[in-house]
Amino acid sequence: MNSVINGIDVHYEVQGAGPPVLFVHGFPLSHRLWTPMVERLGDDYMLIMPDLRGLGQTEATDTCTMAMFADDLKALLDSLDVTEPVVVVGLSMGGYVAFEFFRRHRLSVRAFVLADTRCQADPPEIVETRATVATRVLDEGSKVVADGMIDLLFAPGTPETLRKEWHEIMAASSPVGVAAALDAMAKRVDSTATLPQIYVPTLVIVGENDAITPPRDAEFMQAAIPNAQLEIIPEVGHMTPVEAPQRFAEALKRFLSDVMA
Ligand code: MLT
Repeated sequence: MNSVINGIDVHYEVQGAGPPVLFVHGFPLSHRLWTPMVERLGDDYMLIMPDLRGLGQTEATDTCTMAMFADDLKALLDSLDVTEPVVVVGLSMGGYVAFEFFRRHRLSVRAFVLADTRCQADPPEIVETRATVATRVLDEGSKVVADGMIDLLFAPGTPETLRKEWHEIMAASSPVGVAAALDAMAKRVDSTATLPQIYVPTLVIVGENDAITPPRDAEFMQAAIPNAQLEIIPEVGHMTPVEAPQRFAEALKRFLSDVMA
C-alpha cells in the first residue's frame, strides 16, 4: 500500500489483526525484512511494516534525520487510525529510529524490541566513513553499499539465495535515500542516556555472530534498561528475522504474549 505521509509517498504493508506492532527495518533494507513474521504472528497481531523514507519503495528526500524517520512513523500510525500505544520493533538503524520515536512520541510506545542495534552514537571515524560512502553512492549508485555490507550482514554459511536477495534489495535502493540515511545515522544523538528512561517492557535480541552490532552492545542495553530481557540467537548474524525467522518469531511471540497479558 502507498499513502502520502508528511508530503512523501510512503510504501507500507499492514497484515493481520490484533494489538498493533510497528516494525522498523535497518539500513539500507526494506519492510521485506519482516515478511517471515507475517505467517508466524499475523493471526494474533496487526503487523505494520513501512519502508522508511528513501528506502525500499518509499520516496526519498535529499536530507533526512532520525526525527524525520520517527515523525513519519507517527504520521503513518495516525493515518491508519492507530491510537493505542504500539509495540515498536526496530532492527539496527530501525533501533536508532526507535530511540528517537520514544523520545518524541513516548505515549505511543507500549513496549520495545531492540534487535541487532546499539545505543551509542557514531565515533568520529565512522562519521567520516559514512560521508565518504554517501558521496560514492551518489556518484556510483547503491551497489557500493550492497557490496560493502553483504558480508557483514550475514553469518558465514548463510544460504547464497538469501544473500543474493538482500544484495539485490540494497543495490536497488535510491542513492539519494541511501546517502540521506547515512547522514541521518552519522548525525544521530547518543541514546545511552535514554536507556534508564525506558520503563516499558523491552526485549533485546541479537544474533550471536552479529558483526555490526555484536552481543556486547545488546548486553549493555539490557543492563541499562529497567525492564529488559535479552535473547541471543545462536549461530546467526545481523539479519536475525531472515536468518533465523522461526527463532526470532518464537522470542517475539513469547515477549508479546507477556506484554499483552
Ligand atoms: C543497519 O543495519 O541498519 C546499519 O548497518 C546500522 C549502521 O550502519 O550503524
